[in-house]
Amino acid sequence: MPKRRLLSQAFSERALRDYEPRICAHIEAWIEAIQNEIGNGDGDGDGGLADIDLGQWSNYLIFDILGDLGYGSSFGLVTTATNRSVVDLIPKATGGWYSPLRRILFQTPLGAYLGGPSYHHNIQFRTFCLSKLKERRQKDAAEKAEEPAAAAARRVMFTHLLHGRDPETGEGYSTGDLACESVLLMVAGSQSTAGGLAAIFFYLAHHPAKLARLRAEIHGAFAREQDIRYEYASCALATLPYLRACVNESLRLSPPTPGHLPRDVLGPGAVAMIDGHAVPGGTTVGVSPYALHRNPSYFRDPLGFVPERWLAPRDGDGDGDGDGDGDGDGDGDGRGGPMVMGMVGFAAFSGGPTGCIGQQLAMVEMSLAAARLLWRFDLRLLRRRRRRRHSDSSSPVEFVAKDRFVGQAEGPRVRLVVSCPARRGEAD
Ligand code: HEM
Repeated sequence: MPKRRLLSQAFSERALRDYEPRICAHIEAWIEAIQNEIGNGDGDGDGGLADIDLGQWSNYLIFDILGDLGYGSSFGLVTTATNRSVVDLIPKATGGWYSPLRRILFQTPLGAYLGGPSYHHNIQFRTFCLSKLKERRQKDAAEKAEEPAAAAARRVMFTHLLHGRDPETGEGYSTGDLACESVLLMVAGSQSTAGGLAAIFFYLAHHPAKLARLRAEIHGAFAREQDIRYEYASCALATLPYLRACVNESLRLSPPTPGHLPRDVLGPGAVAMIDGHAVPGGTTVGVSPYALHRNPSYFRDPLGFVPERWLAPRDGDGDGDGDGDGDGDGDGDGRGGPMVMGMVGFAAFSGGPTGCIGQQLAMVEMSLAAARLLWRFDLRLLRRRRRRRHSDSSSPVEFVAKDRFVGQAEGPRVRLVVSCPARRGEAD
Protein backbone atom coordinates (compact mmCIF):
# COMPACT_ATOMS: atom_id res chain seq x y z
CA MET A 1 0.00 0.00 0.00
CA PRO A 2 2.40 2.76 -1.24
CA LYS A 3 0.03 5.66 -0.48
CA ARG A 4 -0.18 4.63 3.15
CA ARG A 5 3.62 4.31 3.33
CA LEU A 6 3.99 7.88 2.08
CA LEU A 7 1.34 9.20 4.44
CA SER A 8 2.93 7.43 7.39
CA GLN A 9 6.05 9.64 7.05
CA ALA A 10 3.90 12.60 8.16
CA PHE A 11 2.86 10.67 11.29
CA SER A 12 6.15 9.01 12.27
CA GLU A 13 7.45 9.29 15.84
CA ARG A 14 10.04 11.78 14.62
CA ALA A 15 7.34 13.92 13.00
CA LEU A 16 5.33 13.83 16.24
CA ARG A 17 8.36 15.00 18.22
CA ASP A 18 8.68 17.96 15.84
CA TYR A 19 4.98 18.76 16.22
CA GLU A 20 4.73 18.65 20.02
CA PRO A 21 6.11 22.14 20.89
CA ARG A 22 3.76 23.65 18.34
CA ILE A 23 0.79 21.74 19.74
CA CYS A 24 1.70 23.06 23.22
CA ALA A 25 1.91 26.64 21.93
CA HIS A 26 -1.60 26.35 20.45
CA ILE A 27 -2.97 24.91 23.68
CA GLU A 28 -1.39 27.72 25.71
CA ALA A 29 -3.03 30.32 23.43
CA TRP A 30 -6.32 28.41 23.75
CA ILE A 31 -6.28 28.39 27.55
CA GLU A 32 -5.51 32.12 27.63
CA ALA A 33 -8.31 32.83 25.13
CA ILE A 34 -10.75 30.84 27.28
CA GLN A 35 -9.53 32.66 30.37
CA ASN A 36 -10.20 35.99 28.62
CA GLU A 37 -13.60 34.79 27.51
CA ILE A 38 -14.78 33.84 30.97
CA GLY A 39 -13.10 36.72 32.85
CA ASN A 40 -10.95 36.56 35.93
CA GLY A 41 -13.41 35.72 38.70
CA ASP A 42 -11.95 34.00 41.73
CA GLY A 43 -14.12 30.92 41.35
CA ASP A 44 -15.81 31.18 44.72
CA GLY A 45 -19.34 29.88 44.37
CA ASP A 46 -20.96 29.82 40.96
CA GLY A 47 -21.05 33.56 40.38
CA GLY A 48 -18.76 35.79 38.37
CA LEU A 49 -17.81 33.37 35.63
CA ALA A 50 -19.48 32.85 32.27
CA ASP A 51 -20.46 29.43 31.04
CA ILE A 52 -18.79 28.32 27.87
CA ASP A 53 -19.33 25.87 25.01
CA LEU A 54 -16.31 23.59 25.32
CA GLY A 55 -17.40 21.70 22.20
CA GLN A 56 -16.99 24.79 20.03
CA TRP A 57 -13.74 25.76 21.77
CA SER A 58 -12.42 22.25 21.18
CA ASN A 59 -13.17 22.73 17.48
CA TYR A 60 -11.30 26.04 17.35
CA LEU A 61 -8.23 24.51 18.97
CA ILE A 62 -8.07 21.37 16.86
CA PHE A 63 -8.65 23.24 13.59
CA ASP A 64 -5.84 25.67 14.46
CA ILE A 65 -3.47 22.80 15.22
CA LEU A 66 -4.42 21.07 11.97
CA GLY A 67 -3.88 24.28 9.99
CA ASP A 68 -0.43 24.67 11.50
CA LEU A 69 0.75 21.04 11.43
CA GLY A 70 -0.97 20.22 8.16
CA TYR A 71 -0.31 23.31 6.07
CA GLY A 72 2.08 25.52 8.05
CA SER A 73 -0.34 28.28 9.05
CA SER A 74 -2.93 28.24 11.80
CA PHE A 75 -6.50 29.09 10.81
CA GLY A 76 -6.55 31.55 13.74
CA LEU A 77 -9.93 30.42 15.11
CA VAL A 78 -8.86 30.58 18.76
CA THR A 79 -7.73 34.18 18.62
CA THR A 80 -10.25 35.71 16.17
CA ALA A 81 -13.89 35.05 15.38
CA THR A 82 -13.50 35.90 11.66
CA ASN A 83 -12.94 32.42 10.18
CA ARG A 84 -14.94 30.35 12.66
CA SER A 85 -17.64 29.49 10.13
CA VAL A 86 -15.24 26.88 8.68
CA VAL A 87 -16.09 24.71 11.69
CA ASP A 88 -19.72 24.47 10.54
CA LEU A 89 -18.79 23.90 6.92
CA ILE A 90 -17.84 20.22 7.40
CA PRO A 91 -21.15 19.09 8.95
CA LYS A 92 -23.05 21.09 6.35
CA ALA A 93 -20.94 19.62 3.54
CA THR A 94 -20.93 16.01 4.73
CA GLY A 95 -24.62 16.01 5.74
CA GLY A 96 -25.75 15.80 2.11
CA TRP A 97 -23.73 12.66 1.46
CA TYR A 98 -25.93 10.81 3.89
CA SER A 99 -28.90 11.10 1.58
CA PRO A 100 -28.44 8.39 -1.11
CA LEU A 101 -30.30 10.49 -3.70
CA ARG A 102 -28.19 13.59 -3.08
CA ARG A 103 -25.01 11.52 -3.19
CA ILE A 104 -25.86 10.41 -6.73
CA LEU A 105 -26.95 13.91 -7.72
CA PHE A 106 -23.72 15.48 -6.42
CA GLN A 107 -21.78 13.54 -9.01
CA THR A 108 -23.79 14.86 -11.93
CA PRO A 109 -24.20 18.38 -13.37
CA LEU A 110 -27.73 18.33 -11.92
CA GLY A 111 -26.22 18.48 -8.42
CA ALA A 112 -25.80 22.26 -8.68
CA TYR A 113 -29.54 22.70 -9.31
CA LEU A 114 -31.13 19.89 -7.33
CA GLY A 115 -28.53 19.05 -4.68
CA GLY A 116 -29.73 21.69 -2.22
CA PRO A 117 -27.50 23.81 0.04
CA SER A 118 -25.23 20.91 1.01
CA TYR A 119 -24.02 20.67 -2.62
CA HIS A 120 -22.78 24.26 -2.40
CA HIS A 121 -21.32 23.69 1.08
CA ASN A 122 -19.47 20.74 -0.39
CA ILE A 123 -18.00 22.87 -3.16
CA GLN A 124 -17.09 25.59 -0.62
CA PHE A 125 -15.38 23.03 1.59
CA ARG A 126 -13.38 21.50 -1.25
CA THR A 127 -12.37 24.96 -2.44
CA PHE A 128 -11.18 25.76 1.07
CA CYS A 129 -9.08 22.56 1.26
CA LEU A 130 -7.56 23.14 -2.17
CA SER A 131 -6.75 26.78 -1.40
CA LYS A 132 -4.84 25.67 1.71
CA LEU A 133 -2.92 23.16 -0.38
CA LYS A 134 -2.08 25.86 -2.95
CA GLU A 135 -0.85 28.23 -0.21
CA ARG A 136 1.30 25.42 1.15
CA ARG A 137 2.88 24.77 -2.25
CA GLN A 138 3.73 28.45 -2.64
CA LYS A 139 5.27 28.59 0.84
CA ASP A 140 7.18 25.44 0.14
CA ALA A 141 8.79 26.97 -2.92
CA ALA A 142 9.73 30.08 -0.89
CA GLU A 143 11.20 28.00 1.96
CA LYS A 144 13.39 25.86 -0.30
CA ALA A 145 16.40 28.13 0.18
CA GLU A 146 16.27 27.88 3.99
CA GLU A 147 18.93 26.35 6.23
CA PRO A 148 18.19 22.64 6.84
CA ALA A 149 17.65 23.22 10.59
CA ALA A 150 15.15 26.02 10.03
CA ALA A 151 13.39 23.93 7.39
CA ALA A 152 13.14 20.98 9.81
CA ALA A 153 11.53 23.17 12.48
CA ARG A 154 8.88 24.22 9.97
CA ARG A 155 8.20 20.77 8.56
CA VAL A 156 4.47 20.10 8.30
CA MET A 157 2.37 17.19 7.09
CA PHE A 158 2.20 18.50 3.56
CA THR A 159 5.98 18.95 3.44
CA HIS A 160 6.14 15.18 3.88
CA LEU A 161 3.42 14.60 1.30
CA LEU A 162 4.80 17.03 -1.27
CA HIS A 163 8.36 15.69 -1.11
CA GLY A 164 7.84 12.15 0.14
CA ARG A 165 8.93 9.26 -2.02
CA ASP A 166 7.88 5.72 -1.47
CA PRO A 167 11.10 4.06 -0.20
CA GLU A 168 10.37 0.95 -2.29
CA THR A 169 9.12 2.38 -5.57
CA GLY A 170 10.56 5.93 -5.48
CA GLU A 171 7.14 7.29 -6.50
CA GLY A 172 5.61 10.45 -5.02
CA TYR A 173 2.07 11.79 -4.86
CA SER A 174 0.34 12.99 -8.03
CA THR A 175 -1.43 16.39 -8.00
CA GLY A 176 -4.82 14.66 -7.91
CA ASP A 177 -3.74 12.49 -4.96
CA LEU A 178 -2.57 15.58 -3.07
CA ALA A 179 -5.96 17.25 -3.55
CA CYS A 180 -7.71 14.14 -2.20
CA GLU A 181 -5.32 13.98 0.77
CA SER A 182 -6.07 17.61 1.58
CA VAL A 183 -9.82 16.93 1.82
CA LEU A 184 -9.23 13.66 3.70
CA LEU A 185 -6.88 15.24 6.26
CA MET A 186 -9.22 18.14 6.88
CA VAL A 187 -12.21 15.86 7.55
CA ALA A 188 -10.34 13.08 9.35
CA GLY A 189 -8.09 15.25 11.50
CA SER A 190 -10.42 17.95 12.75
CA GLN A 191 -13.87 17.12 14.08
CA SER A 192 -12.91 13.59 15.09
CA THR A 193 -10.37 14.85 17.61
CA ALA A 194 -12.45 17.89 18.58
CA GLY A 195 -15.45 15.60 19.20
CA GLY A 196 -13.29 13.24 21.26
CA LEU A 197 -12.05 16.13 23.38
CA ALA A 198 -15.57 17.50 23.86
CA ALA A 199 -16.75 14.04 24.95
CA ILE A 200 -14.02 13.88 27.61
CA PHE A 201 -15.18 17.21 29.07
CA PHE A 202 -18.83 16.14 28.82
CA TYR A 203 -18.41 12.90 30.76
CA LEU A 204 -16.13 14.43 33.38
CA ALA A 205 -18.52 17.34 33.95
CA HIS A 206 -21.29 14.80 34.55
CA HIS A 207 -19.15 12.74 36.96
CA PRO A 208 -17.64 15.14 39.52
CA ALA A 209 -15.93 12.43 41.62
CA LYS A 210 -14.06 11.11 38.57
CA LEU A 211 -13.21 14.64 37.52
CA ALA A 212 -11.77 15.29 41.00
CA ARG A 213 -9.70 12.10 40.80
CA LEU A 214 -8.28 13.07 37.43
CA ARG A 215 -7.49 16.64 38.51
CA ALA A 216 -5.71 15.28 41.59
CA GLU A 217 -3.63 12.99 39.35
CA ILE A 218 -2.65 15.88 37.05
CA HIS A 219 -1.86 18.28 39.92
CA GLY A 220 0.15 15.54 41.63
CA ALA A 221 2.29 14.99 38.54
CA PHE A 222 2.87 18.57 37.42
CA ALA A 223 3.72 21.49 39.70
CA ARG A 224 3.23 24.05 36.94
CA GLU A 225 0.81 24.18 34.02
CA GLN A 226 3.62 24.88 31.55
CA ASP A 227 5.45 21.69 32.62
CA ILE A 228 2.71 19.51 31.17
CA ARG A 229 4.16 17.67 28.17
CA TYR A 230 3.45 14.38 26.42
CA GLU A 231 5.84 11.43 26.25
CA TYR A 232 8.00 12.91 23.52
CA ALA A 233 9.67 15.31 25.96
CA SER A 234 10.81 15.31 29.57
CA CYS A 235 7.57 14.58 31.39
CA ALA A 236 5.40 11.65 30.56
CA LEU A 237 1.79 12.75 30.41
CA ALA A 238 1.11 9.55 28.51
CA THR A 239 1.92 7.53 31.60
CA LEU A 240 -0.79 9.08 33.77
CA PRO A 241 -3.09 6.07 34.05
CA TYR A 242 -6.31 7.81 35.04
CA LEU A 243 -6.00 10.40 32.27
CA ARG A 244 -5.49 7.65 29.72
CA ALA A 245 -8.44 5.74 31.23
CA CYS A 246 -10.74 8.79 31.00
CA VAL A 247 -9.74 9.41 27.36
CA ASN A 248 -10.35 5.75 26.43
CA GLU A 249 -13.64 5.58 28.30
CA SER A 250 -14.97 8.75 26.61
CA LEU A 251 -13.95 7.41 23.19
CA ARG A 252 -15.65 4.12 24.07
CA LEU A 253 -18.98 5.71 24.96
CA SER A 254 -18.90 8.35 22.21
CA PRO A 255 -16.60 7.16 19.43
CA PRO A 256 -16.01 10.12 17.07
CA THR A 257 -16.62 7.91 14.03
CA PRO A 258 -19.61 6.00 15.42
CA GLY A 259 -21.03 4.32 12.31
CA HIS A 260 -19.84 1.26 10.45
CA LEU A 261 -16.94 1.79 8.06
CA PRO A 262 -17.90 -0.20 4.96
CA ARG A 263 -15.70 -2.95 3.56
CA ASP A 264 -16.52 -4.85 0.39
CA VAL A 265 -15.92 -8.56 0.01
CA LEU A 266 -13.97 -8.49 -3.25
CA GLY A 267 -14.30 -10.63 -6.31
CA PRO A 268 -17.25 -12.40 -7.94
CA GLY A 269 -17.47 -15.92 -6.64
CA ALA A 270 -15.29 -15.10 -3.62
CA VAL A 271 -16.44 -15.99 -0.16
CA ALA A 272 -15.12 -14.44 3.05
CA MET A 273 -15.51 -16.34 6.31
CA ILE A 274 -16.40 -13.74 8.94
CA ASP A 275 -17.03 -14.94 12.46
CA GLY A 276 -18.16 -18.32 11.13
CA HIS A 277 -20.46 -16.84 8.46
CA ALA A 278 -19.79 -17.31 4.74
CA VAL A 279 -20.17 -13.87 3.15
CA PRO A 280 -20.31 -13.81 -0.70
CA GLY A 281 -18.25 -11.46 -2.92
CA GLY A 282 -19.89 -8.09 -3.60
CA THR A 283 -21.35 -7.85 -0.09
CA THR A 284 -20.61 -4.75 1.96
CA VAL A 285 -19.85 -5.48 5.60
CA GLY A 286 -18.91 -3.30 8.54
CA VAL A 287 -18.91 -2.99 12.30
CA SER A 288 -20.21 0.08 14.10
CA PRO A 289 -17.84 1.12 16.90
CA TYR A 290 -20.82 2.67 18.72
CA ALA A 291 -22.61 -0.69 18.85
CA LEU A 292 -19.43 -2.71 19.50
CA HIS A 293 -18.51 -0.49 22.45
CA ARG A 294 -21.90 -1.19 24.04
CA ASN A 295 -21.61 -4.96 23.73
CA PRO A 296 -21.77 -6.44 27.25
CA SER A 297 -19.58 -9.37 26.14
CA TYR A 298 -16.70 -6.90 26.01
CA PHE A 299 -17.68 -4.28 28.57
CA ARG A 300 -19.63 -4.92 31.72
CA ASP A 301 -22.03 -2.09 32.59
CA PRO A 302 -21.54 -0.94 28.99
CA LEU A 303 -23.60 2.25 29.32
CA GLY A 304 -21.82 3.54 32.43
CA PHE A 305 -18.86 5.94 32.42
CA VAL A 306 -16.31 3.77 34.22
CA PRO A 307 -12.71 4.87 33.49
CA GLU A 308 -11.56 2.40 36.17
CA ARG A 309 -12.20 -0.49 33.77
CA TRP A 310 -9.07 0.61 31.84
CA LEU A 311 -6.75 0.53 34.86
CA ALA A 312 -4.23 -2.25 35.29
CA PRO A 313 -3.76 -3.62 38.85
CA ARG A 314 -0.66 -1.53 39.45
CA ASP A 315 -2.52 1.67 38.58
CA GLY A 316 -4.47 2.04 41.77
CA ASP A 317 -7.56 -0.10 41.97
CA GLY A 318 -5.37 -2.99 42.95
CA ASP A 319 -7.14 -5.84 41.23
CA GLY A 320 -7.42 -4.94 37.58
CA ASP A 321 -10.99 -6.12 37.34
CA GLY A 322 -12.09 -2.58 36.74
CA ASP A 323 -14.87 -2.52 39.30
CA GLY A 324 -13.00 -0.28 41.67
CA ASP A 325 -13.66 -2.40 44.77
CA GLY A 326 -10.19 -3.87 45.07
CA ASP A 327 -11.30 -7.47 45.70
CA GLY A 328 -10.23 -8.88 42.37
CA ASP A 329 -13.43 -10.77 41.65
CA GLY A 330 -14.69 -8.28 39.12
CA ASP A 331 -18.23 -8.28 40.39
CA GLY A 332 -18.03 -5.85 43.29
CA ASP A 333 -20.51 -3.41 41.80
CA GLY A 334 -21.09 -5.22 38.56
CA ARG A 335 -19.02 -2.81 36.51
CA GLY A 336 -15.97 -3.01 34.34
CA GLY A 337 -14.19 -6.05 33.01
CA PRO A 338 -10.65 -7.24 32.57
CA MET A 339 -8.76 -4.67 30.59
CA VAL A 340 -7.84 -7.11 27.83
CA MET A 341 -11.52 -7.70 27.06
CA GLY A 342 -11.95 -3.95 26.76
CA MET A 343 -9.09 -3.62 24.27
CA VAL A 344 -10.45 -6.43 22.09
CA GLY A 345 -13.77 -4.65 21.75
CA PHE A 346 -12.32 -1.14 21.43
CA ALA A 347 -12.34 0.17 17.86
CA ALA A 348 -12.54 3.97 18.08
CA PHE A 349 -9.57 4.22 15.71
CA SER A 350 -10.49 1.11 13.71
CA GLY A 351 -7.48 -1.13 13.03
CA GLY A 352 -5.50 -3.08 10.48
CA PRO A 353 -4.03 -1.62 7.29
CA THR A 354 -6.61 1.21 7.03
CA GLY A 355 -6.85 2.05 10.72
CA CYS A 356 -6.41 5.66 11.81
CA ILE A 357 -2.97 6.90 10.93
CA GLY A 358 -3.47 9.97 13.14
CA GLN A 359 -4.19 7.98 16.31
CA GLN A 360 -1.00 8.96 18.14
CA LEU A 361 -1.35 12.59 17.15
CA ALA A 362 -4.98 12.60 18.31
CA MET A 363 -4.00 11.08 21.68
CA VAL A 364 -1.30 13.73 22.13
CA GLU A 365 -3.72 16.55 21.28
CA MET A 366 -6.60 15.31 23.47
CA SER A 367 -4.42 14.38 26.47
CA LEU A 368 -2.45 17.63 26.44
CA ALA A 369 -5.49 19.86 25.95
CA ALA A 370 -7.55 18.07 28.62
CA ALA A 371 -4.68 17.99 31.13
CA ARG A 372 -3.81 21.65 30.69
CA LEU A 373 -7.39 22.87 30.85
CA LEU A 374 -8.19 20.73 33.89
CA TRP A 375 -4.98 21.79 35.61
CA ARG A 376 -6.27 25.36 35.64
CA PHE A 377 -10.07 24.99 35.66
CA ASP A 378 -12.66 22.95 37.50
CA LEU A 379 -15.78 22.12 35.49
CA ARG A 380 -19.26 22.79 36.84
CA LEU A 381 -22.21 21.46 34.97
CA LEU A 382 -25.14 23.80 34.72
CA ARG A 383 -28.07 21.88 36.19
CA ARG A 384 -30.35 22.35 33.24
CA ARG A 385 -27.69 20.90 30.92
CA ARG A 386 -27.73 17.36 32.34
CA ARG A 387 -28.46 15.17 29.36
CA ARG A 388 -29.82 11.65 29.24
CA ARG A 389 -30.51 9.54 26.23
CA HIS A 390 -33.82 8.30 27.53
CA SER A 391 -36.47 10.05 29.59
CA ASP A 392 -35.88 7.53 32.41
CA SER A 393 -33.98 9.62 34.97
CA SER A 394 -31.88 6.64 36.11
CA SER A 395 -30.41 5.97 32.66
CA PRO A 396 -26.77 7.02 32.22
CA VAL A 397 -26.00 10.34 30.56
CA GLU A 398 -24.70 10.24 27.01
CA PHE A 399 -22.90 12.71 24.77
CA VAL A 400 -25.30 12.20 21.88
CA ALA A 401 -23.98 12.73 18.34
CA LYS A 402 -25.48 12.48 14.87
CA ASP A 403 -23.62 10.03 12.64
CA ARG A 404 -22.26 12.05 9.72
CA PHE A 405 -19.20 9.78 9.25
CA VAL A 406 -17.65 11.90 12.00
CA GLY A 407 -20.17 12.22 14.83
CA GLN A 408 -21.66 15.68 15.26
CA ALA A 409 -22.66 16.71 18.73
CA GLU A 410 -23.43 19.92 20.60
CA GLY A 411 -21.65 21.21 23.67
CA PRO A 412 -20.94 20.55 26.43
CA ARG A 413 -21.74 23.94 27.88
CA VAL A 414 -20.13 24.15 31.29
CA ARG A 415 -19.05 26.71 33.83
CA LEU A 416 -15.30 26.91 34.26
CA VAL A 417 -13.97 27.81 37.67
CA VAL A 418 -10.34 28.80 38.12
CA SER A 419 -9.07 26.39 40.68
CA CYS A 420 -5.49 25.18 40.72
CA PRO A 421 -2.81 25.09 43.43
CA ALA A 422 -0.47 27.67 41.82
CA ARG A 423 -3.21 30.19 41.11
CA ARG A 424 -4.64 29.81 44.62
CA GLY A 425 -1.10 30.39 45.89
CA GLU A 426 -0.80 33.61 43.85
CA ALA A 427 -4.02 34.91 45.36
CA ASP A 428 -2.95 34.22 48.98
C1 HEM B 1 -10.07 10.97 18.23
C2 HEM B 1 -9.62 11.25 17.02
C3 HEM B 1 -9.71 10.34 15.82
C4 HEM B 1 -10.51 9.25 15.61
C5 HEM B 1 -11.52 8.62 16.55
C6 HEM B 1 -10.19 8.75 14.28
C7 HEM B 1 -10.77 7.63 13.71
C8 HEM B 1 -10.41 7.11 12.48
C9 HEM B 1 -10.91 5.88 11.95
C10 HEM B 1 -11.93 4.98 12.62
C11 HEM B 1 -10.30 5.68 10.75
C12 HEM B 1 -10.41 4.44 9.86
C13 HEM B 1 -11.26 4.61 8.66
C14 HEM B 1 -11.39 3.29 7.95
O1 HEM B 1 -10.87 2.26 8.43
O2 HEM B 1 -12.03 3.29 6.92
C15 HEM B 1 -9.42 6.80 10.51
C16 HEM B 1 -8.64 6.97 9.39
C17 HEM B 1 -7.83 8.06 9.18
N1 HEM B 1 -7.54 9.05 10.08
FE1 HEM B 1 -8.31 9.25 11.94
N2 HEM B 1 -9.24 9.54 13.73
C18 HEM B 1 -8.89 10.52 14.63
C19 HEM B 1 -7.94 11.52 14.48
C20 HEM B 1 -7.18 11.71 13.36
C21 HEM B 1 -6.19 12.76 13.18
C22 HEM B 1 -5.79 13.80 14.24
C23 HEM B 1 -5.72 12.65 11.91
C24 HEM B 1 -4.70 13.49 11.19
C25 HEM B 1 -4.43 14.74 11.41
C26 HEM B 1 -6.38 11.52 11.30
C27 HEM B 1 -6.15 11.09 10.02
C28 HEM B 1 -6.68 9.94 9.48
C29 HEM B 1 -6.39 9.49 8.12
C30 HEM B 1 -5.48 10.20 7.12
C31 HEM B 1 -7.10 8.30 7.95
C32 HEM B 1 -7.12 7.43 6.67
C33 HEM B 1 -5.99 6.45 6.75
C34 HEM B 1 -5.87 5.61 5.48
O3 HEM B 1 -6.74 5.68 4.62
O4 HEM B 1 -4.89 4.86 5.38
N3 HEM B 1 -7.25 10.97 12.21
N4 HEM B 1 -9.50 7.64 11.60
